[in-house]
Amino acid sequence: MKLFDVYPLYDVNPTKAKNVFVYDKDGKEYLDLYGGHAVISIGHSHPDYIKNISSQLNKIGFYSNSVINPLQKELANSIESLSGCYNYRLFICNSGAESNENALKLASMHTGKKRVIAFKNSFHGRTSAAIAATDFRSFHSPLDQQQKVTFISLNDIYALENELKIGDVCAVLFESIQGYGGLDEPSEEFILSIEKMCKKYEACLIADEVQSGFGRSGKFFAFQKYNIEPHFICMGKGMGNGFPVGGVLIHPNIKAKYGMLGTTFGGNYLACSASITVLDVIKREKLQENAKIMGDYFVKKAKSISQVIRIKGRGLMLGLEFDFQVSDLRKKLIYDKKIFTGGSGNKNLLRILPPLTIQKTHFDKFFKALKELL
Ligand SMILES: Cc1ncc(COP(=O)(O)O)c(C=O)c1O
Repeated sequence: MKLFDVYPLYDVNPTKAKNVFVYDKDGKEYLDLYGGHAVISIGHSHPDYIKNISSQLNKIGFYSNSVINPLQKELANSIESLSGCYNYRLFICNSGAESNENALKLASMHTGKKRVIAFKNSFHGRTSAAIAATDFRSFHSPLDQQQKVTFISLNDIYALENELKIGDVCAVLFESIQGYGGLDEPSEEFILSIEKMCKKYEACLIADEVQSGFGRSGKFFAFQKYNIEPHFICMGKGMGNGFPVGGVLIHPNIKAKYGMLGTTFGGNYLACSASITVLDVIKREKLQENAKIMGDYFVKKAKSISQVIRIKGRGLMLGLEFDFQVSDLRKKLIYDKKIFTGGSGNKNLLRILPPLTIQKTHFDKFFKALKELL
């Protein structure tokens, strides 16, 4: 049977990985500055990760959400203490899209309204409400277009208030650092205004931290650069270091009811074990701090490259913008220099999303290779 052919592939077949390196079937080493798309947080094949998931698998791998699973509570407590987001409630699911989908659904249930405000160049995942709130229309189906979503430009406070005034908006969904859209950030003034206006017009504020969360930005959540308290905080990617885990933190003002949400696999023992280990390692190895230090180092080095027209992002969610499309450069980095990088909706942007364990020598190697290719 053939695979449903939706992904253009690089001709690399990784069979092994360790920390910031991936090895192909012939044993060739690749430096991973892509983190499997911002997923690898604590490094590939971290020994604690292997040990804890294997030991959990030897006890029990799966049952259902109809019985007590103390690991779910342990995960909630760990997220609370590391993030400093106190008193939120945790709902565990399996991916970033699901996390946004559940937050949007809860916002609609809570407010009794159904229009969503999202932003130009946003990306929120492939499920129906999440993709409808994604500003890449070629990914939409007619089914998704039934959702009511209005896209406004980042930092357009006037447009935001005009839309919210109408009174039918259940949620404003935003990324503090846009991912696929190309690493643009709303201004502090705009973020504070969104929160204020959501309160005024009784809409929910949803922070999509699927890519920027779990330490990647140098803060636990990227929105924590600002003094705001979203109704929902959506997580995924780095939460499981490759194990499929997503989650939503839900403000205590939003009350749970039996049957409101549900999932078969979400919060299973292996997923919880993976994510608890990720949090342990982030804390013990000070990876959030490392993301900040390494991000600053990267920016400093990038400033010496004359072909770079803009440096974007923060922490280890970074981008280099050129005045040409980067797809050939990415190919040369992979095939000639054995370095993985990422692309984005902005075709001129090279994205850098490494494991949070990255060190200066790895970035030195990247900049040497980049200079040679440019
Ligand atoms: C900001 C953001 N939200 C949501 C998603 C969707 O996550 P997933 O692919 O796990 O469904 C992504 C994935 O790239 C993302 O970057």
